[in-house]
Amino acid sequence: MKKVLFVIGSLRKQSFNRQVSEYVKDLLRDKAEVTELDYTSLPFINQDIEFPTSDILARIRQEVLATDILWVFSPEYNFSYPAVIKNLFDWLSRPMTTERDSAIAIRGKKVALTGIGGRNQTKNCREKLTSLFEFIGAEVMPNQVGLMVNAEAWANNIVILTDEQKTLLKQQVEDILG
Ligand SMILES: Cc1cc2nc3c(=O)[nH]c(=O)nc-3n(C[C@H](O)[C@H](O)[C@H](O)COP(=O)(O)O)c2cc1C
Repeated sequence: MKKVLFVIGSLRKQSFNRQVSEYVKDLLRDKAEVTELDYTSLPFINQDIEFPTSDILARIRQEVLATDILWVFSPEYNFSYPAVIKNLFDWLSRPMTTERDSAIAIRGKKVALTGIGGRNQTKNCREKLTSLFEFIGAEVMPNQVGLMVNAEAWANNIVILTDEQKTLLKQQVEDILG
């Protein structure tokens, strides 16, 4: 069974993106081993604290190295991706040891992208994440899904996916599991 590691780009409890990830998690039941990456205690990137490697960074790197697919569910913040995931991926783009030619945790990793937000369906976030992942050597999977949230969710925080949106996510699951 493939291992899939979820990265939620929003820290808020009632996150629309978290709700979509829960729907996808259900779709993946019995098809993949799903875990969510907890990166909330990761400090801001700072080369002064790169070595010795902190316990939290070591744990995050192990989880990333152990997974087959990293699945990012992220909102768009100001035409781009949130700073919290930029920080995470900056850390993951760094060499793991001080040796020359040290391995890099994110390199070669397959990444799936999904986002829910306003009318532009996180297009700019996903485009910019795609450029970031290309730059740091991860492989973005071709089927990305962007969703516009139902209007009531802005007030009540309850995401209701349309049948069309569910179909897109089901297709993404199929494509990603290959
Ligand atoms: C700092 C900030 C910037 C935002 N910028 C955008 C934006 O550029 N485009 C957009 O559609 N929504 C934007 N939003 C609204 C988010 O789409 C909305 O807050 C959404 O609920 C965030 O996702 P979440 O529910 O998973 O936390 C922004 C929200 C914040 C907090």
